[in-house]
Amino acid sequence: MIYLGINVSHGASACLMINGDIKFVYQEERFTKVKNFCGYPKISIDKIIEYLKEENLKIDIAAFSTIHNLPFGFMFPKNHFFTIEDQMNFYGEQFYSKFLKKKSVKSYIKKLKKDNRNKLDLYLPYHKIKEKYYFKNSKNFREVNRKFLLKQSKNLIKKIIFLDHHSCHASYAYYSLSRKVRESNKICTLTIDSEGDMLNQTVWAPSNDKKNISKLFESSQCDLARIYKMTTLILGMKPDEHEYKVMGMAPYSKSSYSDEVYNKVYKNLLDVKNGKVIHKNRPKNLYDYLKKNLMPYRFDNICGAVQKLVETISIKILSQLYKKYKFQHFSISGGVSMNIKMNKILSELKFVKKIYVSPTGSDESLSIGACYYLAKNNSRSFENIYLGQKLFKKNQDILKEIKKIFPRKKYIVQDKVKSKKIAKLLKKGAIIAIANGREEFGSRALGNRSIIANPSKPETIKIINEMIKNRDFWMPFALTILERKHKNFLINKKNISCEFMTIGFDTIKNKIDLIKAGTHPYDNTVRPQILSRNKNVEYYEIIDNFYKITGIPAVLNTSLNLHGFPISSKIDDVANTFKHSGLKYLFLINKILVIKK
Ligand SMILES: [Fe+2]
Repeated sequence: MIYLGINVSHGASACLMINGDIKFVYQEERFTKVKNFCGYPKISIDKIIEYLKEENLKIDIAAFSTIHNLPFGFMFPKNHFFTIEDQMNFYGEQFYSKFLKKKSVKSYIKKLKKDNRNKLDLYLPYHKIKEKYYFKNSKNFREVNRKFLLKQSKNLIKKIIFLDHHSCHASYAYYSLSRKVRESNKICTLTIDSEGDMLNQTVWAPSNDKKNISKLFESSQCDLARIYKMTTLILGMKPDEHEYKVMGMAPYSKSSYSDEVYNKVYKNLLDVKNGKVIHKNRPKNLYDYLKKNLMPYRFDNICGAVQKLVETISIKILSQLYKKYKFQHFSISGGVSMNIKMNKILSELKFVKKIYVSPTGSDESLSIGACYYLAKNNSRSFENIYLGQKLFKKNQDILKEIKKIFPRKKYIVQDKVKSKKIAKLLKKGAIIAIANGREEFGSRALGNRSIIANPSKPETIKIINEMIKNRDFWMPFALTILERKHKNFLINKKNISCEFMTIGFDTIKNKIDLIKAGTHPYDNTVRPQILSRNKNVEYYEIIDNFYKITGIPAVLNTSLNLHGFPISSKIDDVANTFKHSGLKYLFLINKILVIKK
């Protein structure tokens, strides 16, 4: 069976699954160059159609991963053109507070319609949608999507359906695990996000034969993501994007101060009953409440307090699920699963035997979830994440192409370079961009579109920031570490699998200096990619050679992109990033080294 999964939302994406195998996952942002592109993933679907035509194949079922989408947020995608001030106006007086009071927002809509910053092609004929349908009648919007897909795919699709948002998150979390893991454990699947199909929390149990999952309960009152998002905005950062910066700041706060913020502002908002999150004293206008009440507090203590809310509530959820259902294995997805600090705390709970966190659990993974929902047990688990576009076109003369892109006047192009040489350069302190094979799906670069460096040199952080990343001063870089050696550096007593940088770990005190630049500068925790050889042989070889000459089985790893842009994709994009950065070295397809003169 051939399935096409489509996510129309924040992080638009499309996934092709053939007979249970994920063939491609494309994120629209990689084509449009707008980070977290919001809306219909037209180019991603075009690419899949192109492949199907070449192979003379048809899609049995195309599935959209949400039923009740409303057009307003897609017609005026905030993350494409809103400034922080626009966002504050939106969540404040101009829209959110009026909307909650059921007051007219017509003048605000009129203003948005005239806003010529919203000029990106959004593909769908939004102008045809009547204003009365902007916030209701999702059926109307489903029809717009369905018709557009039919026209775009020209008889290639036999059937089009719409699936429930959280069922897709849950299917991704469950079926992406290996069959062995699923069959030998009673895994509880948990989804938590901002909102999808009117819900923000679901909990699922496996059937006796472990081939299916069924929903135990759901909640529409689990406002963790919403509270985190609004706090991010109140701190002057981009909602739906910069939550990781709040999480990164949280360890700097002292609990004696952040506890006060937590107790006064966050503690009484939510409660948990039998694993289900419910409102406690949650005010109707959450943004207004947070804005007023957070006013007297310092930014770092606010970060610490909101993180404490997420950790406290999620600990309660798991503890109660253990008490009531005896679950000791948990698989988590949805936007909140991106919180690696929460995942760390949960993995350390005494009764928890294992937690599994699927890569990029926010909405961009819903297209994969839709395919898993359809294929269920007839699917293969998530073997690796290199599911996007290839660096080069088929049959391209690669060396010739590289020499054309990097002229001799400005660049030295060396062929047949071995990973040993790259390891030696790293040892000396070189910062090297690497691009190889297919791009990673999701928000984390895992060795195919990465910048790597020697993690024992903390001065590297400043250099990388000046060369390309421009990251906030408090934010850590990540680490890739060889699986066979990781326990010499990280504390992982429960053997938690972390191939995709989804969980935080403590580090071993007397080893920290060797990996310092890849850890959190304040609490020395790490968000690792624990790498086995079979997952990425070429990348593994570089690190293994680096280990042989330094005794450090790890490299600092950060994504290859210019500040504010999505991760680089094909060779022209990679070259553009390299040329516009201060980076000196680019290692391509594991054998060609480009050096700036
Ligand atoms: Fe979601």
